[in-house]
This record gives sequence, structure tokens and C-alpha cells, in this order.
Amino acid sequence: MIVAIDGPSGTGKSSTSKSVAAALGLSYLDTGAQYRAITWWMLSNGVPVDDQAAVAAAAGKPVIVSGTDPAAPTIAVDGADASVPIRTEEVTAAVSAVSAVPEVRTRITALQRSIAAEAAGGIVVEGRDIGTTVLPDADLKIFLTASPEARAARRSGELKGKEATDVSATREALIKRDAADSGRKTSPLKKADDAVEVDTTELTLEQVVECVVTLVDEAV
Ligand code: C5P
Repeated sequence: MIVAIDGPSGTGKSSTSKSVAAALGLSYLDTGAQYRAITWWMLSNGVPVDDQAAVAAAAGKPVIVSGTDPAAPTIAVDGADASVPIRTEEVTAAVSAVSAVPEVRTRITALQRSIAAEAAGGIVVEGRDIGTTVLPDADLKIFLTASPEARAARRSGELKGKEATDVSATREALIKRDAADSGRKTSPLKKADDAVEVDTTELTLEQVVECVVTLVDEAV
């Protein structure tokens, strides 16, 4: 069972994907964390992230390992835990530029496909291009949406306590990141033709999870 869950940030994608995987006994892969990890490596190693050629030349260097337990997903870069540094605003601001570079996508897509192929009991994979590009034969494809206001409020809630933030600045940053992710040439953020769209604006996490679990049951 391969479930692809795509959509922009703030739609509840990560929480939904982890809960669905846990409820169904499936593995879980956060592909955004992989793009954040490669971006963090570039920033840490002085690679100018707006220089496509420099990013492309370095794309093969970091060793990225994802742990796929939905109760405790992990991400390591060159053998060190990277789960905290990949969530900084610096990485968030740079990740769209890095993930638009075709050499980065080729490398990370290959990694994602091999993880999905090795997940014996099945896997929930969340991202932006899973249903369209990475796993076009997924058994079920979900595309999560929500109003910009709901998304900004959720994202601000996530950041609260970690970094100073306000909802309107978060909304602007989200819109900018969506535009970059949707407008890039290589596998943009896009609903697959055969994906089920779920608008989470008015739904609780529990309701979204229930909806997706029902769709998985129907797809079996
Ligand atoms: O999901 P998250 O917000 O952590 O993703 C961070 C960034 O990684 C996205 O804004 C996007 O630029 C990139 N990404 C991607 N393709 C994916 C997952 C994430 O390009 N499948």
C-alpha cells in the first residue's frame, strides 16, 4: 500500500500523514525534510544557494538518511541528526531555490523511490510531487488544501515558542514559497489528475485523518 499525500505547507500534511501511517501500521516518509536537509548542508558548507550551478555541482555530496517510523521519524545528514537545524527560518527561506534545481530533484527522487520500494508493509509519503512524479503508481493519492489564512495560522502555531513570528509575515512567506514551488519547471507542486482533493480549512486533524483512512480502506 503506497499512499501519496501532497499539498502546500500549513494544510496539516505532516500531522495527517504521520497519524494515517501510525493508524494503518505503515512506514512514513517526510520528503520535505529531505529537501530541507540538503538545503541545510548547502548553507552549512558555504554553497551559494541562489547559484544553480554551484548547488547542482554539490547535489551529490551530502549523505541523507531518513528514518521512517511515524512515531519518531528521523533525518540525518552525514551521520548526524539534522532534525532541529532543518526547521530554522534560514533553511525555510532557502529551500525552494535549492529544491528547484533539477540535479537536486533527481537525487532526492531516487532516494525516495528506493525508500518506498523497501518499505515492506507499505508507506505514506508526503510532499509536493509524490503523486505526479515520484510515485505516479501510488495506490491512493491525496491532495490537501486549505485557505491561506488557515495555513498561516497553523504554521504560526507551529513556530510559536521556537522563533519570533507573526501571522501576516508567516502568510507572506507561505505565499512566496508556494509561488516558487508551484512555478518551478521541474516537478512543481501540483495536484495529480487522479488525486482526491481534501480541503482541510474547516476540519480538525482527527477529521482529516478519518477521511484519509476511509479512502485507504476503500482503495484496498
Ligand atoms: O514540507 P516542507 O514545508 O517541509 O517542505 C519544504 C520545501 O521542500 C518545500 O517548500 C519545497 O520547496 C520542497 N519540497 C519539494 N518537493 C517535495 C517536498 C518538499 O520540492 N516533494
